[in-house]
Amino acid sequence: YTAELDASDIEKGTYPHFMLKEIDEQPFVMRNIINQYQNENGDLKLDDDIRAAMKDADRVYIIACGTSYHAGLVGKQLIENIANIPVESHIASEFVYNMPLLSEKPLFIFISQSGETADSRAVLVEVKKLGHKALTITNVPGSTLSREADYTLNLYAGPEIAVASTKAYTAQIAVLAILAVDSAHAKGIELDFNPLQELAIVANAMEVLCDQKEEMEKIAREFLAVTRNCFFIGRAADYYVCLEAALKLKEISYIQAEGFAGGELKHGTIALIEEGTPVIALATQEHVNLSIRGNVKEVAARGAYTCVISMDGLQEEDDRIVLPKIHPFLTPLVSVLPMQLISYYAALHRDCDVDKPRNLAKSVTVE
Ligand code: G6P
Repeated sequence: YTAELDASDIEKGTYPHFMLKEIDEQPFVMRNIINQYQNENGDLKLDDDIRAAMKDADRVYIIACGTSYHAGLVGKQLIENIANIPVESHIASEFVYNMPLLSEKPLFIFISQSGETADSRAVLVEVKKLGHKALTITNVPGSTLSREADYTLNLYAGPEIAVASTKAYTAQIAVLAILAVDSAHAKGIELDFNPLQELAIVANAMEVLCDQKEEMEKIAREFLAVTRNCFFIGRAADYYVCLEAALKLKEISYIQAEGFAGGELKHGTIALIEEGTPVIALATQEHVNLSIRGNVKEVAARGAYTCVISMDGLQEEDDRIVLPKIHPFLTPLVSVLPMQLISYYAALHRDCDVDKPRNLAKSVTVE
């Protein structure tokens, strides 16, 4: 139960910062999730009530804030593609006064590391008043959002102390993938992959990346040590990871960072590119690889200083990091890791307080 713990209660061990420790814990968290969500036969196991609620829902509404919202964007893709249920992902503080027309049988999913975020709770209170069912996905099972929802799924990530969320984000995506697969099974949809095996592959890939810290540090020094701004570009699932990458960098290094969909650049943002502007591109999605490569060339032609992070099988000669190949549904779990490390080292190079960035709180309990 992490809500009552504070940083001084938990050991950093040999780590200089909680953030670095928590980034490194991600392979372990993936394995922990696999263990927690499988039965003695090694099959996926989820609460029957949650399974029934997902099966009954004609539409899922994911509600969250900050990094958890970014996990929710990935979750939308996972649930739609795997379980064939329509999903909308919403920012809690907007949803609360700008509610869309709801479907006949909605299921609300609240994603919250702390389970205490006031903006998310405000939505939970409203939807309960309307009589709808709610599932909370949280790292803190006894938290407010967990107690007040009908169902809870635990992230099993262990206490997250650094203000910038890392292992909770990947745990949220892993649990959303498990939920999606379980819902597909409930609906009799045949799948050609085993999510637990795929998550084990993810855990190994994360380990490989955690061993490449020197390269991440070099990229941070080269691209971000003195810049005022930075852009992250990607398409499809990579775009969602770019939003999270930009948030991570903003939070802890105070660099003006933005994540953009590759195709949107030409509709405005490219005007900001000048000589030396750092642009970090994610290219892990086979179906849009050519297009994102085109975007990298466009910004490079306008003077941008580019860094491409790609995936085994899609790489080109000058790519700075090539991620191990993993299941296409799960790429955000590994592509975010270099982004977390690059942000971490950028903050270090700029002498920022990595674990406690200015103006931010780990858990925001006011609306
Ligand atoms: C705060 C934290 C963020 C976090 C957000 C949502 O703003 O600084 O890192 O993503 O709250 O928190 P939650 O606990 O609901 O996931």
